[in-house]
Amino acid sequence: MTTSPALTPSVASRGDEPDIACSELVRIFKTDAIEVQALQGLDLVVDRGELVAVVGASGSGKSTLLSILSGLDVPTAGVARVAGRDLLSMTRSERVTFRRECVGFVWQQTSRNLLPYLTAAENVAAALAIAGRTPKRERAARTAGLLDLLQVGYCADRRPAQMSGGEQQRVAIAVGIANEPRVLLADEPTGELDDETSAHVLEAMRSVNRELGVTTLIVTHDPAVSEHVARTVQIRDGRTATEVLRSTRHDEHGAEHHIAEEYAVLDRVGRLQLPDEFVTALDLRQRVRLALEPDHVGVWPGATADRPRGFGESRETRSRESARSDDRDILRTSDAAEAPGDRAEDAGDQAEDAASATEDAS
Ligand SMILES: Nc1ncnc2c1ncn2[C@@H]1O[C@H](COP(=O)(O)OP(=O)(O)O)[C@@H](O)[C@H]1O
Ligand SMILES: [Mg+2]
Repeated sequence: MTTSPALTPSVASRGDEPDIACSELVRIFKTDAIEVQALQGLDLVVDRGELVAVVGASGSGKSTLLSILSGLDVPTAGVARVAGRDLLSMTRSERVTFRRECVGFVWQQTSRNLLPYLTAAENVAAALAIAGRTPKRERAARTAGLLDLLQVGYCADRRPAQMSGGEQQRVAIAVGIANEPRVLLADEPTGELDDETSAHVLEAMRSVNRELGVTTLIVTHDPAVSEHVARTVQIRDGRTATEVLRSTRHDEHGAEHHIAEEYAVLDRVGRLQLPDEFVTALDLRQRVRLALEPDHVGVWPGATADRPRGFGESRETRSRESARSDDRDILRTSDAAEAPGDRAEDAGDQAEDAASATEDAS
């Protein structure tokens, strides 16, 4: 297995390669005079056996990402590896094999997942027959087992039109995993379902992930998906913006607590996206000042009078000021109140207050 030289160090250095690894992924659509950058340097790593949701507003690039990961579309630039295959360098025939053997899909439109003139059992059996890996005599038993796993055994002899939307999506999941793909990809699998049915379908995907260990990526605009997965990645404008990790902890009385922690995502060249509400609260525009503190990085609006010392100052100012502070250090080394970081700390407190005020307000 070759590793693309452009692969990020964090991706390349893992002995156990993740099942999905995207780095600096770019997809540009050109139509006549217009150019749309659907993916603008997206980074994403999903480890083997993980269940991850990618959420983002309509138009943020979710379907574009899934088309690439499923081998239907080819990115303009960057790295995309799925189940150990390099999606940029694949030949056409390798792509066909990849789609047949390595990945399964569930699409939003229930009609796109199943053939309308076949029953649920025939749809699953057809998927097994096309891949040709399950001997003919074993197909009926495997089909029944898959439909039972998805709790739609009773739909075996029904055609899609005779099933509810939720039942159709469960059968679609059975079809998607029929050939034991390493990765299951779902694009808005609950987009046409009501809330309760959506929750059941997402739980079905979670149990398939848990029981069969198939690496699963669900993309959706519905933030409620995060209640069903341990990790939610938010994309904005074709780039990974934040991640929410959910965990369960038990306190000293044995009570269960569900904890969700939100993180901003730092890409490999150090870029991160500030949440809209932070940008608005501090009226951040165009240029901001950064300062390195012992345990955090401060961000300040660019044009404040009492600004902290940090990234973005002119060299001339900095050398003058550091010369001054050197003088001061020589004169009054014991005067802690004059420590050079103080102004930055005050401004940092203001920024924190503003940030917690937005949190309180939301
Ligand atoms: N085949 C295409 N040709 C031109 N533009 C496209 C094409 N597919 C997607 N786009 C554009 O790329 C952006 C992302 O689209 P998409 O990936 O479908 O977003 P999402 O699934 O998050 O709603 C949108 O601006 C969309 O209009
Ligand atoms: Mg979409």
